[in-house]
Order: sequence, then C-alpha cells, then structure tokens
Amino acid sequence: MKKYIIRGNKTLSGNVRISGAKNSALKLMAASILANSKVTLQNVPDIEDVNTMAEVLKTLNAKVVFKPQKNRLEIDPSSINSFEAPYELVRKMRASVLVAGPLLSKFGRVKIAIPGGCNIGARQIDLHLKGFENLGAENYVEHGYINCAVKSDKAKVINSGSKLKGSIINLDFPSRGATENLMMAACMAEGKTVINNAARETETVDLANFLISMGAQIDRAGTDCIEINGVKTLKGTEYRIMPDSIEAGTFIIAASLCGSKVVIENAIWKNIEIFCLKLKEVGIDIESRGDNTIVVRRLANTLNTVYISTLPYPGFPTDLQPIIAVLLSVIPGISIITENVFENRFMYVDELNRMGANIKIDGHHAVIKGVKNLSGAPVKAFDLRAGAAMVLAGLAADGITEVSDIHHIQRGYENFESKLAGLGADISLVT
Ligand code: UD1
Repeated sequence: MKKYIIRGNKTLSGNVRISGAKNSALKLMAASILANSKVTLQNVPDIEDVNTMAEVLKTLNAKVVFKPQKNRLEIDPSSINSFEAPYELVRKMRASVLVAGPLLSKFGRVKIAIPGGCNIGARQIDLHLKGFENLGAENYVEHGYINCAVKSDKAKVINSGSKLKGSIINLDFPSRGATENLMMAACMAEGKTVINNAARETETVDLANFLISMGAQIDRAGTDCIEINGVKTLKGTEYRIMPDSIEAGTFIIAASLCGSKVVIENAIWKNIEIFCLKLKEVGIDIESRGDNTIVVRRLANTLNTVYISTLPYPGFPTDLQPIIAVLLSVIPGISIITENVFENRFMYVDELNRMGANIKIDGHHAVIKGVKNLSGAPVKAFDLRAGAAMVLAGLAADGITEVSDIHHIQRGYENFESKLAGLGADISLVT
C-alpha cells in the first residue's frame, strides 16, 4: 500500500504553481454531456477524481481523451447512449451524481446509484432530487438506484424529446452540488428557472461561465439567486479551468508552518480571502502580489490563536478546516473551530493528537490547545483534506511521519509530493 514518508522540520522556500481546480474540472466534465459536439478542457489536474469522472463519462459511451502531461481533456458526448452512473463509480466518487442534471436535461432520464455515506458525513442528495421534481421530473428508488425521468417520459423511450420545464427552486441550504446539478439541468429546460438560496462558490461561477461559452443563458451566477433561460441546444467549446483554491490554501499552510518565503503562483486571493485574512489575524505575513500570486512568510514572532466557523462561500471553507487546524495546533493558547457544513469532519483529530496535538471535540466544535511541537508518527489519511492535513503535520513535526491510505490524497492533489519536495520538503512516496 502506498505511503508518504516525511522527515519533518525542513524549511520550505521557493515557488510553487497551483493546478486547475478539482471541484471545477469535475463539474465541467459532467456539463460536457450537454454539448452537441466536442468539448476541450485545459488546465485539467492530473488527479484520480478526474480519471474517475472520465470513467463515468466512458460508461455513458462518451469519447474521452485525457492528455495528463498537457493537462488537456477532450470529451465528445455525441455518442452517449447510456444513462446510468453505476454504484462502483458513484461509491468511489460522490461527484459522479453531477451527471444526473445534464443527462436528465438532454435525454429526459437518468439512473444513478444512491451515494450513501462517506468519511465526512451523510451527504444526502435530497435537494438535488427535490429540484429535479420542481423541473418536472419524477424520482423513484429501486435496487439501490434512483431513477429520474421527465414525467411524460415514463414509457422509458430513449431520446423521446421530453424536456424539463423551467421553474422556481428554493433550496433549503445553499448546497454547491445541488445548485450545480440544477443549473446544468435547467440549461436545456423549457422556459426560465430561478434558483433561490443558491451556492455562491467560485467554482459554481466557473461552471456557469463554461455553460455560457456553450451557448447557455445564465445570469447572476455568484449570487444567491441564479436565473437560467433554457435553450434548445448547447455547442462544444474550449475552456480553461480556474486554479484550485483549496490546493492554494494547503500550500499557504505548509508555508505558514515551515516557510521562510514561499511564492504561490496561480492562486487567486479573492477566492480564499476570508482564509487569507484569518492567517493575517494569526500573524502570518501573507500578501497578494496582484498577478495571481500569493507570497507567504513565516514570521519569527509569536502567533495568535483564532476562532473559526466554517460556512458556505464566501464564508470560511470547510475544505480548509482540517488544513488550518494543523497550524492552530502549534500556536500556544486556545483556538476554536466550529464546523457548520459537514457533521463528521473532525476524523483527523485523533490522528493529529497521536502526533502530540491537544484537540478536544465537543459536538461540532474543536477546542485546540496549542502545543510547542508535533512529533512524527505513523498516521492515516481519512479523507482527501484530512490526508493533506496529516502531510502538513508531518512537515512541521520532529522526526519521521508515515502517512498511509494516501489514495485519498491522490484523489485531489496533482504531484503533491513533488511540489512539496520542490520547496525543500523531505517527502517520498513508497509503494
Ligand atoms: C462540495 C465539494 C466539497 C466541499 C463541499 C462544501 C465538490 C466535488 N465537492 O461538495 O469539496 O467540501 O462542497 O463546500 O465540489 N446536503 C444535503 N442535501 C443535499 C445536498 C447537500 O443535506 O441534497 C448537505 C450535505 O450533507 C452537507 C451540506 O449540505 O452537509 C453541504 O453540501 P454541498 O454544498 O452539496 O457539498 P458537495 O457539493 O457535496
């Protein structure tokens, strides 16, 4: 089984370049189903989740060619003639459910495995399904699968031409996945759709811009009220994926823990502003150079404890919660993190405590009593971001840290170990 071996306490310095955003790439790949000709995506990260989404598209019989060295992916959806996302793939990657909106919109039907739980919580898709119903679809569960069909398409005639109908959708929570699935579904529905209490995430805006480049009519993406006027067809396009803010945040924390001066290129400050401002409050010297570059210096003076509460964008991102916890674990005094988005996102705490941290969980709060230093230990990656947090802890710890189950990390970080090694980290991947 693959592991990372990290010898900690090395000073990091130099430049690192952030890859394309995982959470944009996956959505754009799913949205490509809507096109009537070839889509070319640039700046696609070479990560496991992209390979899994490519598998999902191939299962539908789309033609997919990924050139990882060029970070270029081509999708020809014109051969799609299957409408089922199978359990093996949905279980492996929940984002597979994002093919539901495009398939339902274009073909009037979809069959999708019920995702079930995952390491960070229950993660329902009830809001997606309720939205599909608002748009005129019916859902029923059979043998572990959700079958959705536009009402008049119940005879299960493929390509019958039945269309979703534009509607007003009021989301109970600004779910990113539901907003994106419904925005994709509405693009080719008949008439106008309004999504109220929509997610305002930057990747949701990237998806909207991509759909607009295919010919979709979408207004006010990035606000909590998105308007979509359905069009008859969407055409193929070429599009460059935005940079990954969570990867940027991960390298910012690596630099805050062990950096002398680290220059993070292709990182957009405004997309993670609340996170960067929190680090300023901590006392990290962090600044935007204006050309999509963030410069981080670890100051020698004492750092400050902080309170953090995760919230949907533009709030503090839940994905950076385990990552910043590593930094807070070595700042003397008490810091508190409140997790408001996922109920099970403190799984990494026991592992971090095994490295000498002092963190207590009380409901959805983590009370962090800063220690002087962490000490290397064998630890496990519980999920993608928890795994990255373990690597960061290893970089800052005395001695050797072995991180196992790193397939979770490889789902979402392109060349993680070589990027860190390029900054001076002593990290190797062993099989
Ligand atoms: C996306 C991101 C993930 C990030 C999360 C929150 C992708 C591929 N993943 O996940 O990295 O951590 O946003 O920023 O983009 N919920 C429901 N019912 C639903 C949908 C969601 O109850 O139908 C709940 C979830 O259980 C969770 C919360 O809403 O507690 C947020 O979920 P959501 O915003 O949908 O996250 P994802 O899109 O799954």
